[in-house]
Amino acid sequence: MPSDTTTNSSRKILVTSALPYANGAIHIGHLVEYIQTDIWVRFQKMRAHSCYYVCADDTHGTPIMLRAEQEGITPEALIERVHGEHSKDFSDFAIEFDNYHSTHSDENRELSQDIYRRLDKAGLITKRTIEQLYDPEKKMFLSDRFIKGGCPKCKAEEQYGDSCEKCGATYSPTDLIKPYSALSGATPITKKSEHHFFQLGECEAFLKEWLNPDGETAPLQLEAANKMNEWFEAGLRDWDISRDAPYFGFEIPNAPGKFLYVWLDAPVGYMASFKNLCEKEGLDFDSYWQPDSDAELYHFIGKDILYFHALFWPATLKFSGYRTPTKICVHGFLTVDGQKMSKSRGTFIMARTYLDHLNPEYLRYYFAAKLSDRVEDIDLNFEDFTARVNSNLIGKYINIASRSAGFISKRFNGQLAATLDADGAKLVSEIQAQAEQIAARFEARQFSEAMREIMALADQANEYVSDKAPWVMAKAAGQEQQLHQVCSAIINAFRVLTIYLKPVLPRLASDVEAFLNIKPLQWRDVDGLLTDHAINKYKHLMKRIEPPQIDAMLAASAATLQPTKPSPARHGEAQQKESKQKKSKVAKKETTTPDNGAGHSVNDATDNTIQFDDFAKVDLRIAKIVKANHVEGADKLLQLTLDIGEEKTRNVFAGIKSAYSPAQLEGKLTVMVANLAPRKMRFGLSEGMVLAAGPGGKELWILEPHEGAQPGMKVK
Ligand code: MSP
Ligand code: ZN
Repeated sequence: MPSDTTTNSSRKILVTSALPYANGAIHIGHLVEYIQTDIWVRFQKMRAHSCYYVCADDTHGTPIMLRAEQEGITPEALIERVHGEHSKDFSDFAIEFDNYHSTHSDENRELSQDIYRRLDKAGLITKRTIEQLYDPEKKMFLSDRFIKGGCPKCKAEEQYGDSCEKCGATYSPTDLIKPYSALSGATPITKKSEHHFFQLGECEAFLKEWLNPDGETAPLQLEAANKMNEWFEAGLRDWDISRDAPYFGFEIPNAPGKFLYVWLDAPVGYMASFKNLCEKEGLDFDSYWQPDSDAELYHFIGKDILYFHALFWPATLKFSGYRTPTKICVHGFLTVDGQKMSKSRGTFIMARTYLDHLNPEYLRYYFAAKLSDRVEDIDLNFEDFTARVNSNLIGKYINIASRSAGFISKRFNGQLAATLDADGAKLVSEIQAQAEQIAARFEARQFSEAMREIMALADQANEYVSDKAPWVMAKAAGQEQQLHQVCSAIINAFRVLTIYLKPVLPRLASDVEAFLNIKPLQWRDVDGLLTDHAINKYKHLMKRIEPPQIDAMLAASAATLQPTKPSPARHGEAQQKESKQKKSKVAKKETTTPDNGAGHSVNDATDNTIQFDDFAKVDLRIAKIVKANHVEGADKLLQLTLDIGEEKTRNVFAGIKSAYSPAQLEGKLTVMVANLAPRKMRFGLSEGMVLAAGPGGKELWILEPHEGAQPGMKVK
């Protein structure tokens, strides 16, 4: 059982972290979860348990399909690229999966479709025809997040189909004032389609029993269990698990044109990744997943996806004939300086940006020092971060080694003493005596407590160093042996502390192992002493954080994250997520001149007031994009044929290829500068310019007038 933390009975453990979406980069918020899980897994491995840590990219769903379309590549190419990026980010943070797979895999297709069949056979799937909003231009159904319009309550414009970001009202998309598709701008129509539902209500008795077992085996933390009870009280509704084509996902067996909703196949991805590992390493998949399995199964997740993991997932597993999770370990969200991570403040820091400036183990240590077993948000404050790393990790722990190692190599030829002095032996044994207490903290995911206890032991070691003052002994005559014993005791204290910190700081620990000339440390190595043993010359183990490094990282982060309009493709199919991340509002609007890809910010001219007459010189017209074409040999341009109510259409080259495909533009209205001097380009004559906003690349949005405007109308 999980409460058993002794090392003599080997447990069989399978651990997962949530599968990150394949349409975005890993950021430091994600890392809370992967670092937390990795520390726990490394701890289990050090305890000599059999423990596998699997994960994968979550590759299906509409946002990924649209993102690929926007980039002009196939979804397969997109998810392959992102798989490489994610893998690299994780490994650079020393997050060591036993397997990092993809939900777009054969294993996952087979398992997901089979699970669907089993649920159907168990009588838990029902089909109903429902009415949904449909984009007649994109020819696809629109989930709430892809519909926008006016809030029916406060009338705020441009609100999403499920809730208003202004007044907080929730409603259904059909209640919106003048709803439009966030994808094409078209007015959605209602259309019927048959959907497949998983009857969650039928699983209530089982779920209640799973949640509140007899004894101490509760699968959820108290806060999470309370949330479950709220959901039970509100009543469990059927879960819509089908989506109509076009959809990037797995087809539903015997239902042409219908696909499994991404959230059905995503957690099955845990099994699929493990299955893939089993095939590679000859492990027995069934012994982990059959109902009477003797393995423990742990899922680490963020609080926003509890509903999926604590209701749908155990029910799915149970009624398709598999075992259920031992524990769902839920963590809170990362805030930076007390606030939600924000692109406009530059605190939405990507893993890669961090890595470009700072040692990943600083962050591992800092998160460990903040993480508890509760579902609470944790805050990253950079002053606190710098102070804790410098004064605890380096000032207390690293310092122990650096204060004594020099004497061992210079005075004793790198050889540790054969015995310790009485105080030294006492110090080391006191540090060793805490091993089970600290292990219990790791086991219970009370990492901050573990770090506090380890640092208290480091304080004790430092006191010993100060009391004995080896630098005084080194100058005194006839104290050779004492000096040798004291320095050897210090090295021994350092060795045991390194074991305790190794789950958090694997790279540093490996450098310490090289320095101490010892085999990779396991938890059981706590006992025993390193005596009469040759160690290597001390090399600096870790540098202090210098505040300019933090400044440089924040500046780099701000530079890569200009505030942008929320793009529907980044929203995920988040309508069922518990706490929706409200998108930061556009902090600064930019008007770019995308004719050749070079943008000019209107705001760049700080106090450049113009007179009305100056403005009136610009002839802005409503233009209809009658045709849009790729331009051979141009990687940024699209060729637009614009109708502005004149006899002849205008030909304009616009640098918007990175954000639009021709098909997305044809038939749309936009705004153009009609009296711009024509410009001869390599590809032909450009007779004006269309207006767009955004920093560039994929983040570019052409202007579009409200309904009713006609081609040729003057904008004034
Ligand atoms: N793809 C789904 C999970 C499917 S699991 C079968 C998903 N992906 S995600 O990329 O949005 O998030 C992955 C994990 O990172 C989630 O557990 C989420 O809670 C966590 N975090 C994402 N942002 C976070 C913070 N800012 N802070 C802490 N954890 C966060 O959800
Ligand atoms: Zn409102």
